[in-house]
Amino acid sequence: MSLLVKGARIVTACDDYVADVHAEGETITTIGRQLDIPADVVLDGTGLYLLPGGVDPHVHLDFPFGDTKTSDNVQTGTIAAAFGGTTTVVNFTQQLPGERLQATLERGLDTAEGNAAVDYGYHLIVTSLDEQTLPDLDTLVADGVTSVKLFMAYPGLVMVDDRTLFQVLERTASLGALTCVHAENGDVIDVLVQRALAAGRTGPAWHGRTRPELAEAEATHRAIALAEMADAPVYFVHLSCREALDEVTRARDRGRPVYAETCPHYLYLDDRVYDEQGGFDVAKYVLTPPLRPAHHQAHLWRGLRNDDLSVVSTDHCPFCLKGQKTLGVGDFSKIPNGGPGIEHRLVLLHSGGVVAERLSLRRMVEVFSTAPARLFGLFPSKGTIAVNSDADLVLFDAGATHTLSAATHNMNVDYSLYEGMAVTGKVTSVIARGKVIVEEGKYVGRPGDGRYFKRGPSGRG
Ligand code: URP
Ligand code: ZN
Ligand code: ZN
Repeated sequence: MSLLVKGARIVTACDDYVADVHAEGETITTIGRQLDIPADVVLDGTGLYLLPGGVDPHVHLDFPFGDTKTSDNVQTGTIAAAFGGTTTVVNFTQQLPGERLQATLERGLDTAEGNAAVDYGYHLIVTSLDEQTLPDLDTLVADGVTSVKLFMAYPGLVMVDDRTLFQVLERTASLGALTCVHAENGDVIDVLVQRALAAGRTGPAWHGRTRPELAEAEATHRAIALAEMADAPVYFVHLSCREALDEVTRARDRGRPVYAETCPHYLYLDDRVYDEQGGFDVAKYVLTPPLRPAHHQAHLWRGLRNDDLSVVSTDHCPFCLKGQKTLGVGDFSKIPNGGPGIEHRLVLLHSGGVVAERLSLRRMVEVFSTAPARLFGLFPSKGTIAVNSDADLVLFDAGATHTLSAATHNMNVDYSLYEGMAVTGKVTSVIARGKVIVEEGKYVGRPGDGRYFKRGPSGRG
C-alpha cells in the first residue's frame, strides 16, 4: 500500500514549506516538490497544513476509579483521538496492591490488544515499593515502558512517600527512563477535604476549594529537590498554576532536567465554573488539579512559549455526569476525578494558541507532537515528518470554523468541557502508519490497527 499527499504546507517543529509526501507501506519514503510517484491513495493537500500525527502522553482509557472506570475504553478513546489528529497515545496501567510490575503491564496490554485505533504505549503507575519493585523496573524498561507515574496525592489509595519517590527516581534515571509525578500535597489536601465535609460543605465546588495552588507548588518543589538528590530527570503531569510553574522555571534556569506539561482545560477554563448556582452539574469540572483563577492562564501560555512547559497533553479521564460523577452526590470527595479532552487538543491549541497569537505554528507542533515523542521515547518514528519516520500525518484546515459540543463529539461521555465554544481549525484527514483512518468526518480505520509501541529511552532537549 502506498500513499501520496500532494501540495500541502508541511509544518513540523522546525520546518514550514510546501511539498509532496510519499509513503510506502507504513513509512515516509520520499519528500519533494511535485513528486511523480504512483501511489494507491492520493490526497490533495492544497491549502491545508500537513502536520505530524499528535502524541498525547497522558490519557486514561479503561482506567479504574473506585467502583467505576473511565467512560472511554481503549477503542472509543483512540477513535476519538484519531478524529482530533492524535495518532499515538500513552495510556496508564496501575499497579494493584502487591502486584508485580510485569503483571500490571500485561493487564494493560490485554485490555488494548485488538482494540486500539492508533498506536499506544503504557506508563506504569507505581503505587508501592517492595524488594522486587526496583529490579522489576529494569524488565519493564526492556519491555518498552520507559516512564512511570507516581502520585504525591490521594493518601491511602495511590499516594507514595518520599522514600518511594526518591528510589524510583534514582532507578528510572539509571535506566534512561522518566518519572512522571502528580504533584499535590496529599496529606494537607486530605485535612482540608475532611474539614469541609465535616462542616457540611459537600457539593462539587468544594473539590476546587480544598486543593490550593500552594499544595501543588509545595509538592512540585519537593519532587524537584528529590530528583536533584537522585540525579534524575522529572516530568510533572497536568501542571495547572503559576506557583508550580515558577518552581519548574527556577529549576530549569539552574539547568536541571525538569519538564512539565499542562492541559487545554487549564489554558481555557477557570474556577468561575465552580459556581454553586450550577448545582451538581459543576461536577463536570471535578478534575485534578482543579481549575484555577483565570489569571494563571497567561502564565501557562507564557510557559509554553518559553519552553518552561514542554508539552500539552489532555489528561483525558472521562466520566459521564449521569451515573458516574453522580457517585459523589452528597460527598464531593467521591466524585470520579477527571474530564474529557482527547479529541480536541489540536484544535484548541490552534485556536487559542496560533490564531490568538500566543504560540507560533511550529511551537504548536512541538508541544502537540515532537516534544512528547522525544521525552517519551517515540522519536523519530513519531513526532515529525521525515524520511524513515512513520507516516502518521494530519491534514488540517486552518481556516475552518466549528463549534464544540457533546452532541457532535466522538468521545463516549455525556458532556463537553467546551460546550458551545467556537474554534478555528479542523482536522480533515488522518493517516496512521500510511493508512487513512479519518476522512471527511468519518472514521474509516479498524480498531486493532493501532499497535503497542515499545518505547525507547527518554530523549531530552
Ligand atoms: O482528575 C484527574 N486528573 N484524573 C486523572 C488522574 C490523574 O491524576 O491524572
Ligand atoms: Zn495525576
Ligand atoms: Zn491523569
